[in-house]
Amino acid sequence: MKKYIVGFALLFVMAQIGYGQTASIKNKMEALIQDNFAFAAKQYQYLKANTPDSVMPRSYVSATNTSVTSDTKWWCSGFYPGTLWYLYAYTKDENIRKEAEKRLGILEKEKYYTGNHDLGFMIYCSFGTAYKYTNNTAYKDVVTIAAKSLSTRYRPAIKSIQSWNSSARLSCPVIIDNMMNLELLHWVSDHGGDPVYKEIAVTHANTTIENQFRPDNSSVHVVDWDLANAKILKKVTWQGASDSSAWSRGQTWGLYGYTMMYRFTKNPAYLNQAKKIAKFILSHPNLPADKVPYWDFDATTIPNAPRDASSGAIMASALLELGQYTSGAEKKEYIKTAETILMALSSEAYRAKLGENGGFILMHSVGSLPHKSEVDAPLTYADYYFIESLTRYKDWYLK
Ligand code: GLY
Repeated sequence: MKKYIVGFALLFVMAQIGYGQTASIKNKMEALIQDNFAFAAKQYQYLKANTPDSVMPRSYVSATNTSVTSDTKWWCSGFYPGTLWYLYAYTKDENIRKEAEKRLGILEKEKYYTGNHDLGFMIYCSFGTAYKYTNNTAYKDVVTIAAKSLSTRYRPAIKSIQSWNSSARLSCPVIIDNMMNLELLHWVSDHGGDPVYKEIAVTHANTTIENQFRPDNSSVHVVDWDLANAKILKKVTWQGASDSSAWSRGQTWGLYGYTMMYRFTKNPAYLNQAKKIAKFILSHPNLPADKVPYWDFDATTIPNAPRDASSGAIMASALLELGQYTSGAEKKEYIKTAETILMALSSEAYRAKLGENGGFILMHSVGSLPHKSEVDAPLTYADYYFIESLTRYKDWYLK
């Protein structure tokens, strides 16, 4: 009897500890989410003030206190309006909604853009997010037209979407980032659009598994094809440290991309690929304790290399979704890592002070170090995936 009482007491204490941990992390995350949305809603008033109506925010140079803006053809033009829609969904602040609608107004013409593969980023993250929170079919129509435009870049000979046009250095480049643009295509087919778009998305994802990954499950940034004979000319980097390095954002685009493809298809091959990428990232000796990666896992100046907050934010968002499709220790590791990242990004090590950082939420991202562009700078997509992660955590793990 005594044995049973001791056993029961032990179980009770363990359950309390387990529950206590869960309750405390939930409380902590709830407070962190509230604080970040309140901060972001105020901070984005500065970003709005720094951004003329005809352009989009892009970055900020602290040394010269200069805001950098872009036209709507820049691949990042959808992130600012997309973040505004997430902020509106949380705050229900009509001023944020008006600003979001105004920015969609200047972006809409890009639904016909066919100059590169980035239309998913540009139109799905903006109009797709707007539709999610409004059910306004006018936004869905924009996304549907964009899928048609993006599909013109599909090259049947190589079973891939061509990322960038031919140049002196690259013949027919396909980059790992392209996985992200498949969301637009698949979503449109699943929402009454032509089924050919999701066929393209699936085919592209399969080709990428075959050709873009190394034996250690890291990905190469660019696969350059010869369209005439459907042979690979070379595998190189564009934004990474070297052709053989693991450029951090590329790894996180892949992680997000295959998790998202599993959401649409339930094909275990995509879930498996996402888990393999997660394993590469999470077990990498160069992943710092706060889980916000250096700009490249093989950067030669680690531990003094710049961090990339955008990779951290993308990874957090992807891991939260991967946590939805896994269980046990795996799920726990994914969610715990996302929590660690979100806590780090919310700290003063990464989150700006109100009114500083040009109005951006996060500091310390890297656009392209080899091009000396946006190094240790704020970026719209770091903010976007940070706010998306907080939204996902609230919607999926606080209910
Ligand atoms: N090419 C998109 C990126 O810099 O991640």
